[in-house]
Amino acid sequence: MTTTTTTASLENLTLSSKESDIEDDQVDPWNVCSKSKTGIDYDKLISRFGCSKINQELLSRIEAIAKRPVHHFLTRGIFFSHRDLHSILNLYEQGKPFYLYTGRGPSSNSLHIGHLIPFIFTKWLQEVFNVPLVIQLTDDEKYLWKDLKLEDAQRLAVENAKDIIACGFDKKNTFIFSDLQFIGECPAFYANIVRIQKSVTFNQVKGIFGFGDSDNIGKIAFPAVQAAPCLASSFPFIFGNNKVPCLVPCAIDQDPYFRMTRDVAPKLGSHKPSLIHSSFLPALQGADTKMSASDLNSAIYLTDTPKQIKNKINKYAFSGGQVTVDEHRLKGGDCSVDISYQYLKHFLESDEELIQIENDYSSGKMLTGELKKMLIECITKIVLEHQANRIKITDADVKEFMTPRKFV
Ligand code: TYM
Ligand code: TRP
Repeated sequence: MTTTTTTASLENLTLSSKESDIEDDQVDPWNVCSKSKTGIDYDKLISRFGCSKINQELLSRIEAIAKRPVHHFLTRGIFFSHRDLHSILNLYEQGKPFYLYTGRGPSSNSLHIGHLIPFIFTKWLQEVFNVPLVIQLTDDEKYLWKDLKLEDAQRLAVENAKDIIACGFDKKNTFIFSDLQFIGECPAFYANIVRIQKSVTFNQVKGIFGFGDSDNIGKIAFPAVQAAPCLASSFPFIFGNNKVPCLVPCAIDQDPYFRMTRDVAPKLGSHKPSLIHSSFLPALQGADTKMSASDLNSAIYLTDTPKQIKNKINKYAFSGGQVTVDEHRLKGGDCSVDISYQYLKHFLESDEELIQIENDYSSGKMLTGELKKMLIECITKIVLEHQANRIKITDADVKEFMTPRKFV
């Protein structure tokens, strides 16, 4: 159930936005867009990518192993898909180790609330399983792709590290690294990058990522850099010589990198990485695109003030409400396209409250203005809490998280 056939994985490996059906939603590391206001068709994406849906049976298994209720991101289908999660759970049950790997491309001063999704969930996984975590900051990637000076990309990596640390990761078990710095500090990491580069042809990365003749050669080589942290041997100071398997939590736009990694890892004598995928927090303007740091008005940043949050939500959050109050009372609102409802689904922890809101909004009892007010309260609280945590983080903390070291 968790593995695909050889033919299917070959097809899926070479699937790219350019080759895929024009009718389909576009989902790759650089673009997420759907024809529909209800957003990406995630079931279709699962079959196109050849990953597996997280079903009730898997949720019960996680709950039994975690010995606690699963995170609401799982029960609400926000983390909805995986590759080989069962192998990781099997190992854990046998008392064998695994580690977590996730990352961020530092393209803006601050993270937005969409980026919180994988990090909040990774923190939950680290708490539940008490395992090592490595977090890659791809300052090299952002330099290669964006109009950004190298020094600025490096500075943004450190700024973003503070946002990430503020999510509450365990210092004793978390290593955060910037590519531009770490490659020089750790020959084993660069050795793995080169091994991966030798195992993938230009033709393959063209197929997976859609690179063309005018893309700079740094881009073409970069996927190996994102792949290398999936090999435990990239971190000898943490794992020694042990072949420890890895689980990557990320939004599903990052999957192409790991399809490639899963293809090459066995050739290099390593475990294929397992994955757990989240859907996207949509843009304020509607679920046809994801919240993106490169579109200022689509996103709520972790540095926004309460006033900015209120204004952005009131002004931009796409409403599934009706045009007039009378009509709204009569027909009710449409939660499936309503951005305020969608955000509450991500960030409001209480299931009872969420169900009540869904009922009241769809019946017309609750108006868009009232729904937006609840969202503003919920997001403001989260952002202010984050800011309070971030302000406490010192340069010394950042240095500690970012120093290659053995976990005690
Ligand atoms: P980046 O910086 O684009 O995104 C960081 C993480 O956030 C996820 N994400 C979102 N999740 C939910 N809703 C959204 N609107 C949204 N936008 C972004 C991304 O999928 C990602 O998990 N190349 C990567 C950095 C990277 C990485 C990794 C990510 C390096 N190694 C390993 C995940 C796992 C990047 O630029 O991510
Ligand atoms: N869809 C709106 C709602 O649910 C109805 C509405 C339209 C409205 N224009 C308005 C409500 C102006 C208040 C003010 O609330």
